[in-house]
Amino acid sequence: MIYRVAKNRDKYQILDFCKNTFEWGDYIHEVWDIWIKENNGLLIVAETSDGASHIPKSVAMIHGILYEDTIWIEGIRVNPVYRRKGLASTLVNKVIQYGKERNAKKASTVVSIKNNPSKKLMNKLNFIPVDKWIYSSTYTLTSNNDKCFDKIIKAEIKDIKIIKTFLSKLENDTSDIIRFVNAWRWYTLTENQLYKIIINSQLYIFHDKKIMGLVIVDSNPYFNKGNYEIGYLYGETKEIVANLINYYGIIAKLHNCNSKKNGEINSIPINDNINDYNKKINIFCPDIKINSEALLELENNDTSKFIVYDKKI
Ligand SMILES: CC(C)(COP(=O)(O)OP(=O)(O)OC[C@H]1O[C@@H](n2cnc3c(N)ncnc32)[C@H](O)[C@@H]1OP(=O)(O)O)[C@@H](O)C(=O)NCCC(=O)NCCS
Repeated sequence: MIYRVAKNRDKYQILDFCKNTFEWGDYIHEVWDIWIKENNGLLIVAETSDGASHIPKSVAMIHGILYEDTIWIEGIRVNPVYRRKGLASTLVNKVIQYGKERNAKKASTVVSIKNNPSKKLMNKLNFIPVDKWIYSSTYTLTSNNDKCFDKIIKAEIKDIKIIKTFLSKLENDTSDIIRFVNAWRWYTLTENQLYKIIINSQLYIFHDKKIMGLVIVDSNPYFNKGNYEIGYLYGETKEIVANLINYYGIIAKLHNCNSKKNGEINSIPINDNINDYNKKINIFCPDIKINSEALLELENNDTSKFIVYDKKI
């Protein structure tokens, strides 16, 4: 088996076995062209010549991307015929090595709670489960929710101190680090990140004499282009969580309608019919009870759970 940096010509052999990887299909076809060019990233394949024809064949892949002190690992795929031969383990170790050589201090990844082979793989490679998250996607928003949109404000730089204090007191039963997600990658919410997120108008707070909830939003840069994403969500009650989701859902909808104007949206129409909203909204949030309860009330929602793994390297 040869392990090497992926070339364009590997794409079709890889996509050939990455069609029905999961019950919902796979996403590698959406990201291959991006990953192969991405700065600070490494796309590797495993190639074998063991077939009858001895023609080299790409039978496994992995992608790693460096950010902060982390090498993020994603897209591990092994052709079913070549599984349980150590390919995934070797690929993960190669990506870790790439990270180490570039001063990464930890390797991280995320695995669906239902994916037992991957959880066992991570366990065998000494990754530690460090956080639990919920992912949900929906076209419609929470109904029958008392709207308190006047209590939701876009955070400004002057709010950083109170936001930090609020976050530091969060009773987060899933992890002691606050993370947020963008496009299926989990980042640590450092002060620098918080600053950037506020500058980019991506943070909204629910404020009623004090902060009682917050949401970090984004539009997904490449998966399902044009969909909207909530990358962090917390509220002291499930009503606050629902308000934050609905508020962002309406902003996303208005933004979609006004995208040609590209203007700032300042007024939220309280009586807008949120159910004619036709863009999908992807929601990532820590797996805590209040979030689960609020998400259950989303109509047509599709919810799954994920484990974030870290390994010191
Ligand atoms: C998960 C996957 C990447 C594993 O690839 P692989 O090359 O077979 O993994 P390895 O041979 O390196 O396995 C290393 C260890 O992981 C565990 N493991 C891997 N597959 C397993 C399975 N099906 N059942 C139980 N344990 C498994 C075992 O501990 C194994 O060690 P062992 O064979 O000595 O018992 C592969 O099954 C796959 O491509 N699955 C579909 C895509 C996917 O789920 N990707 C990961 C998304 S996070």
